Amino acid sequence: MLRRLHHEQPESFAFTPANREWAEAQITKYPAGRQASAVIPLLWRAQEQEGWLTRPAIEHVAEMLEMPYMRALEVATFYFMFQLEPVGSVAHVQVCGTLSCMICGAEDLIGVCKEKIADKPFAVSEDGKFSWEEVECLGACANAPMVQIGKDYYEDLTTERFAEILDELAAGRVPTPGPQNGRYASEPADGLTSLTAWDEGREAGNASVALATRIGDTVKRIDGTEVPLRTPWRDLSDKRGDAEPSRGPVLAPTQPVDETGVDKHSAPVEGKGHPQTYAPAEAAEPGTKPAMRDEPREGGADDLKEIKGIGPKLEKLCNRLGIYHFDQIAAWTDDEVAWVDANLEGFRGRVTRDDWVSQAKALASDTTS
Ligand code: FES
Repeated sequence: MLRRLHHEQPESFAFTPANREWAEAQITKYPAGRQASAVIPLLWRAQEQEGWLTRPAIEHVAEMLEMPYMRALEVATFYFMFQLEPVGSVAHVQVCGTLSCMICGAEDLIGVCKEKIADKPFAVSEDGKFSWEEVECLGACANAPMVQIGKDYYEDLTTERFAEILDELAAGRVPTPGPQNGRYASEPADGLTSLTAWDEGREAGNASVALATRIGDTVKRIDGTEVPLRTPWRDLSDKRGDAEPSRGPVLAPTQPVDETGVDKHSAPVEGKGHPQTYAPAEAAEPGTKPAMRDEPREGGADDLKEIKGIGPKLEKLCNRLGIYHFDQIAAWTDDEVAWVDANLEGFRGRVTRDDWVSQAKALASDTTS
């Protein structure tokens, strides 16, 4: 399906102060230079704030994460969870139209949408409360046909039950999500044939339903009652007295943490086996500081902006650190690159990302030949 930005866009976007604080805390979850990893939560928060994802919001998020706008746009247009045009104020209904659901009656559910919401997908209903679209498989094929409404799934639907669900939502109530035909989960429709003891003593509603009911945010949007994002890694930084506690752990990717030779990328946090879980940076500053100059050589500094990725601001920062010449950069080892990457305030990770060393080598040889 073609997913394009809406033809009408607002002038600008800004997070509310609370959402901005939340977004900045999200960014600190990721190592320096990897802020772009926060793109999905930030886009989601922007959508939750506005109801849909506007172009200024995507640009704003890209700017916050120091990533090209196009990269953020790629994410926003790829995932169906992001709504690129205005949706119903109560809910946007996503009807699965893939094989299992289609065989089991998805077309009839779409008929209900056309009748009760709007004739066309993405059109908002007359009362402004609902919109709908057909989406690809939502991974609940064993409970076909199904729809996603807000953050939850409604499964094993009939047209009658689906229509009732829409009526309940329109009346301000939130029906219990999950299977709608009495099934607990995705067991055989006519009851268990094995492991029948499991059937006894279980609670009403499977774990997903129980959680969805407890959280109660099926169609709820941000209203200030959210649990604040916990950031224990920041508290750790504060205790250690780090110069910049808000930035999260700084990694030196190839630097062994101890004599085992395990580097920070693969070091699990104590008590957790996940290899991608980064330990807070207990080690000293990553890398080794390269030789810096107090001032440029006679004849003046090289124009570092000739290196792709370095603009006037970054050039000034380099000069402040004592970097003036291509041959300085060309001579950096991996360890020295790690140090510079970690010390480019506001531009961390750029040396590696834009391969300054190779670029500087070519420029240095041009200036000497
Ligand atoms: S086919 Fe509908 S959830 Fe998979």
